[in-house]
Amino acid sequence: MFNSIRLRMAVTYLLLIAAVMLATGLILLNMLEKYYLSSAEENLERTGRLTAEFIASYLGDGADTVLLSNVAENFSRQINARIVIVSPQKTVVGDSLRVGGLLGTVMERKEVQEALEGGTGRSIQYSRLSDQWVLQVCIPVEKGDTSLGAVFLSSSLKPVYQTLTAVRRFLLTSTLVSMVFAGGLVVLFAHHLTAPIKELTAAAQQMAEGKLDQRIPINSADEIGRLAQQFNIMAARVKEMNQRLTRFVGDVSHELRTPLASIHVCLQSLQNYELSAEERQEFLEDINHETQRLIYLVEDLLELTRRQEISDKREVLSLKALLEEVLELTRPRVERKGLKLFTEIPEGLPYLYISPEELKRVVFNLLDNAIKYTPDGGWLKLGVESGPEQVMVTVQDTGCGIPGEAIPYLFERFYRVDKARSRYLGGTGLGLAICKEIVERYGGSIGVLETREGVGSTFFFTLPVDPSIQQPVAEL
Ligand SMILES: Nc1ncnc2c1ncn2[C@@H]1O[C@H](COP(=O)(O)OP(=O)(O)O)[C@@H](O)[C@H]1O
Ligand SMILES: [Mg+2]
Repeated sequence: MFNSIRLRMAVTYLLLIAAVMLATGLILLNMLEKYYLSSAEENLERTGRLTAEFIASYLGDGADTVLLSNVAENFSRQINARIVIVSPQKTVVGDSLRVGGLLGTVMERKEVQEALEGGTGRSIQYSRLSDQWVLQVCIPVEKGDTSLGAVFLSSSLKPVYQTLTAVRRFLLTSTLVSMVFAGGLVVLFAHHLTAPIKELTAAAQQMAEGKLDQRIPINSADEIGRLAQQFNIMAARVKEMNQRLTRFVGDVSHELRTPLASIHVCLQSLQNYELSAEERQEFLEDINHETQRLIYLVEDLLELTRRQEISDKREVLSLKALLEEVLELTRPRVERKGLKLFTEIPEGLPYLYISPEELKRVVFNLLDNAIKYTPDGGWLKLGVESGPEQVMVTVQDTGCGIPGEAIPYLFERFYRVDKARSRYLGGTGLGLAICKEIVERYGGSIGVLETREGVGSTFFFTLPVDPSIQQPVAEL
């Protein structure tokens, strides 16, 4: 039940409002009650003292009860209370209630006793007779130190309690009204808040079911809006990755099928036909050639998918030493093809923090292409330019060059300007894609610096230089 944000919010807010209103109400009522009671008491006391002062000279033996009752009645009218005057013997000698009053009776009350002893008697009592709460005050009447009697005042607290009840009712009603109002607001607000979350959940569910075309409308710039935005970006990325994966698998299957089909044909011929030893040798060589291509292809594919593992093996290395190592390895091939190899490697090249295997792979692939696509008798040049922020390696050749419209696709997987030629030369179409993947992962860039068909091309790649990377201690 409490699994819904909307419900949790509504309950929390309502409880909060109820608690605040209840606490404020209780404090307010308490303060009001105290205020009313003390002001009623003050009122009674003031009138009591006035009466006491007034009647002091009339009290004593043989006091005129009619006169005293008149005085009591006059004063009582001003404050809507009953005033009773008693003698030091607690006998009632004056009463504002003329009919059915207490004249002549003895008033045995705690408040009266207190007043006769010189203090002020006070009490709040429930009167069963009149079915209401009453406030009673008793004031002494004195001449010097002699007690002449006391004035007893009693007034109903009904108006006070009526007001307090009205206030209590008002507070209760306003609490209920504000709870209903706030409850409505919270439900609306929570709906506004959770609607996009519900939409997100539904979209995520659809994506989990393989429907990758999910987009969520973005209606706000707040956290939820940003979440929706990120969801859309993620959904687009997932879709794109899915498409790329499908295309990649398609491309791979296609690339595998051609050599496999050739091998299959060769094997069938070997099996089904009477062939001369020479013909058999030719078929076997074809099988060998196609198998070699399959091995290259699988190796390059592994290279493309194994990237993460290799990049963990980063180390500080000298760019110059690494370039010379790769050049040494390629030199025999260059010479076999009758090409000339020039180098322009300046001193003081920076040290790089990089996986040597990966960097070798990039340089090797570029040199391999230059050798492959340059006809016999041409030349190649490997150059390096070092700047404060990056280092640029260039590989120039006098090969076939690249048509302008092909340049944007060169670094895509399996793209080859001349498929048959590349295949014949043992290419897989993955070399430049691997280079791009590696270089970009290290924050560098790769591209064609210049090319002219039939004249040659210059490829380049850059890598960022971190001046804080120093020569490793072993080489010092
Ligand atoms: N130095 C170059 N001169 C001419 N064409 C090149 C050169 N390097 C690459 N190419 C073109 O780019 C394509 C992609 O290169 P690459 O990804 O290394 O694949 P592969 O070398 O296996 O064919 C090549 O097939 C070729 O058409
Ligand atoms: Mg290549």
